[in-house]
Amino acid sequence: MQIADLLRPNVARLRPYSPGRSAPIKLASNENPLGPSPLAVQAIREHADRVLLYPDPVCTELTAALAEHWNVDPQGVVIGRGSDEIIHMLGLAFLNPGEQVIYATPPFALYPFTTTLMDCEHVTIPARDYAHDLPAMAEAITDRTKLVFVGNPYNPTGTYVTERQVAEFMERVPEHVIVALDEAYYEYVDAADFPDSLQYVRQGRNVVVLRTFSKVYALAGLRLGYGIAPPPLATALKQVREPFNVSSLAQVAGLASLRDPEQVERSRRLVLEEKAFLYAQFDDMGLRYLPTQGNFIFVDVGINSVECFERLIEHDIAVRTGHIFGDEFINWIRVTIGTHEQNVAFISALRKVLDK
Ligand SMILES: Cc1ncc(COP(=O)(O)O)c(C=O)c1O
Repeated sequence: MQIADLLRPNVARLRPYSPGRSAPIKLASNENPLGPSPLAVQAIREHADRVLLYPDPVCTELTAALAEHWNVDPQGVVIGRGSDEIIHMLGLAFLNPGEQVIYATPPFALYPFTTTLMDCEHVTIPARDYAHDLPAMAEAITDRTKLVFVGNPYNPTGTYVTERQVAEFMERVPEHVIVALDEAYYEYVDAADFPDSLQYVRQGRNVVVLRTFSKVYALAGLRLGYGIAPPPLATALKQVREPFNVSSLAQVAGLASLRDPEQVERSRRLVLEEKAFLYAQFDDMGLRYLPTQGNFIFVDVGINSVECFERLIEHDIAVRTGHIFGDEFINWIRVTIGTHEQNVAFISALRKVLDK
C-alpha cells in the first residue's frame, strides 16, 4: 500500500509552511533586530548546563510572572512553543471534523493550516480596505462555527481593528463560538483606540488572547508564546498540551525578559522612529503603503513582488513577497522595520531596483 493511500485526506491537502528566506539583511519575518534583553541572554547562559534536566512541565514561574504582568488569573495562562502552538492546541482541543473556522484573507498561515489539519471547513472573509471586516465575519457565524481568528494588528497588512469595532463584533458572537484574538504585535501598537482585549477574558467570554515572545522580546528562535483565557478555556487547552512543551531555556529567558521593560521600550522606540523614516521614503518614491501598527510595512512596489524580491536579494536584502497572500497582492511586499542602517540599505536598494 502506498503512503498516499494511508494518509488522512485532509493532511494530504496541507501545504508546507514556506518560511521567509534569509539574507545578510533579513527583513522577512518580523523579527526584532535589536535582539533580546541582556538579562534573557544571561539567563540562557546560566542555565545552559542544566539542560540535562527536563523542564518544569507547567512553567510555574513564568505563568505566575505573566499573570502578574497582565493582572490576570494564573489559571488562565497557557504557555506554548510560540503562539503557533496555542493555535494548534485550539484546534486539538476544540475542533471537530466539519466544524467551521472563520478567518480573514489573506490569513496568517497557521489559521488555514490548523483548520485543514483538524478537517474543518474554512470560512474565509476577504479583508476590506486591507483590514478585518468584522461585521462580515460576525455575519458568517452559523450553528456550525466553532472558532474565529482575528489578527490584531493584522499580519501582513499591519492594519488593526478598533476598540469599538471589536466591542460591536463581540456583541454578535454567540456562546458556542471561541474567538482567538491574535495579538502577536501587541507591544508595538501605538493607536489610542486599540482594544483592551483582556477585558473579554476577565468577563469570562470564550476568548483567548494570543501573545508571543518572538516579536518585541526577540526570542523567536527559542519558541515561546502564550494564551490568556478564562480559566475553563485555558484548562481545556492544557489538556492537549504535550508534557514538556516549553524548553527550560525558553522559560528562563521569558522570565528574564519580563524584568527588562527598557528592552521593550527601546524596541518600540526604534519601530516608531523608523516607521516614520520609511513612510517618508515611500512617499518620496510615490509608493503606496499601509500605515502599520506592527513592526512591518505592506507596500505596493508597482512591479511583480517576486522580481522585486530577487533583485533585492542581489543587494543582500530579504523581504516577504505579496504573491503568497494572493493574486491581488502580487505587487506588494511586506518589509520588517529594521535598524536605521538596515532601513537605509533597504531603501537605497529599493530605489535602484525600482529606478526611483
Ligand atoms: C499574526 C501572527 N500570529 C502568530 C505568530 C506566531 O508567532 P510565534 O509562534 O513565533 O509566537 C506570528 C508570527 O509571525 C504572527 O505574525
